[in-house]
Amino acid sequence: MQTDFLIIGSGIAGLTFALKTAQACPDKKITVLTKTQSDETNTKYAQGGIAGVMDAANDSFEKHIEDTLIAGDGLCNHEVVDIVVREGRERINELIEWGAMFDKEPDGDFKLGKEGGHSEYRILHHKDVTGREMERALLEAIRLQPGIELINYCFVLDIITQHHLGYLVNKATPDVECYGVYVLNLNTRQIETITSKITLLATGGNGQVYRTTTNPAIATGDGIAMVYRAKGRIENMEFIQFHPTALYEAGVRGQSFLITEAVRGDGGILRNTAGEAFMERYDPRKDLAPRDIVARAIDNEMKVGGTEHVYLDCRHMGREKFIEHFPNIYEKCRSIGIDIEQHMIPVAPAAHYSCGGIKTDVDGRTSIRNLYAAGECASTGLHGANRLASNSLLEAMVFAHRCFADSVNHIDGISIKPGIPNWNASGTTAPKEMILITQSLKEMKLLMSDYVGIVRNNERLQRAMRRLDLLWEETENLYKHTEVSPQLCELRNMITVAYLIVKSAEFRHESRGLHYTTDYPDKSSLVQHTIL
Ligand code: FAD
Ligand code: SIN
Repeated sequence: MQTDFLIIGSGIAGLTFALKTAQACPDKKITVLTKTQSDETNTKYAQGGIAGVMDAANDSFEKHIEDTLIAGDGLCNHEVVDIVVREGRERINELIEWGAMFDKEPDGDFKLGKEGGHSEYRILHHKDVTGREMERALLEAIRLQPGIELINYCFVLDIITQHHLGYLVNKATPDVECYGVYVLNLNTRQIETITSKITLLATGGNGQVYRTTTNPAIATGDGIAMVYRAKGRIENMEFIQFHPTALYEAGVRGQSFLITEAVRGDGGILRNTAGEAFMERYDPRKDLAPRDIVARAIDNEMKVGGTEHVYLDCRHMGREKFIEHFPNIYEKCRSIGIDIEQHMIPVAPAAHYSCGGIKTDVDGRTSIRNLYAAGECASTGLHGANRLASNSLLEAMVFAHRCFADSVNHIDGISIKPGIPNWNASGTTAPKEMILITQSLKEMKLLMSDYVGIVRNNERLQRAMRRLDLLWEETENLYKHTEVSPQLCELRNMITVAYLIVKSAEFRHESRGLHYTTDYPDKSSLVQHTIL
């Protein structure tokens, strides 16, 4: 298959780019690939909302910029912060034009929420299912665009570069170029070659590298691993954000249900198992301190108390009001026997967001030519060492737009590369036993959660790396001899991402933002990014 614009991912970043491109270039072929169903994305699970300066009377761009820079702890790119905050309002208005609905006050103004680290009320939301509403609106708008072909169940295996034409490509090669991708089409079980002029990676996050995460099963860091294999630049992978309040359900592994920070914004109070409201001992902003501080405080309370969770107390918030703002959370709690007016909600931190990723410039260009990245898989410079709540949906839209604006200016100068060879599957046979994959997956998740979590140290990182080395060797061996499957490729990608997280954490000899190590508890005066 040949296409002009190839988009990998159907979350907010991929769909925004596809819509804009289709509207601007009706003569071009636009193809969106997604590895499962089109709406199964991190985007769909977003709860709190999207940050934007919509209330000019009380809020300002300057305040939002300041809050983002404070959260980022010295590592944000000021130019990018400025761009995202100032361009954000226009992008939000476009989303509303495409049909997304945000909650409003009776007078017609937006009902704005507040989350940790924000100095003002500026979070637009749709009840507690903001992401679901955005994904719905985007997919409906996409369906009205005949120029876009959206194909589900197409697992992208690798980016095609000069390497596949027999040239030696390494990190020092100048001008590595992207010619398209190899895809395992799960509808036909065939491996197909798709060549493209422009490719956008919008493959989302990598929370599945950890045992407990708010991310759905698709979040396996495939885009980041593909770019690393293709010798592109990856940045700041040590900054993994743990959300302080995922619902704790004994025995539940995989995706944890999120209790949005907006609940604390509306008055929810964290208590330890002794009933103490402990946050005032950690930060004057108490329950609305930035996420890293709250997550570390909970982690400490759990370790001191020897418990697997703390509590979020919403008993004083009033049932009616709670249901009005958080109907989905209310229903989820009720379904497992928690009445929020009588019981406190058990919560624990869970891996939530990857601040680092594929390094891009201000137009979303990666270090590989004709390859762009946007959304959670990208490292644009907005988040620095810690992301401000509700800034990621905003970043995804602003950068999808910038990728679109830059790529439409260049596409007419790019040709489809001829002579790309088919995928080489020689020497591989059908998988003999899945246990070789599932056991390695379990081991990787466990070691990442236990050794590379909220609090780190040198010894834990060294142990993690030694174990990852072995898993890597075994998995590469399996990969060479086994027919590819999503399970095997995801494992391989997640081990690569885990390696990048540990390696970056080893390089950072300081505690900054989301990276906290007991061996270097202070911030260094040298402010630097980790680029691999
Ligand atoms: P995603 O929406 O994750 O989409 C990724 C896409 O890539 C999917 O379609 C997937 O199938 C596809 N893909 C991946 N790998 C492959 C492959 N190998 N082949 C083919 N396709 C592939 N952010 C906020 O700003 N506000 C919030 O309130 C908020 N709440 C959140 C709540 C939860 C529970 C979670 C998990 C995240 C939340 N976030 C929030 C973060 C935010 O939702 C994500 O960062 C954002 O939605 C990512 O969008 P994306 O387009 O980059 O990727
Ligand atoms: C939440 O609703 O608490 C998540 C918001 C975010 O991750 O930005």
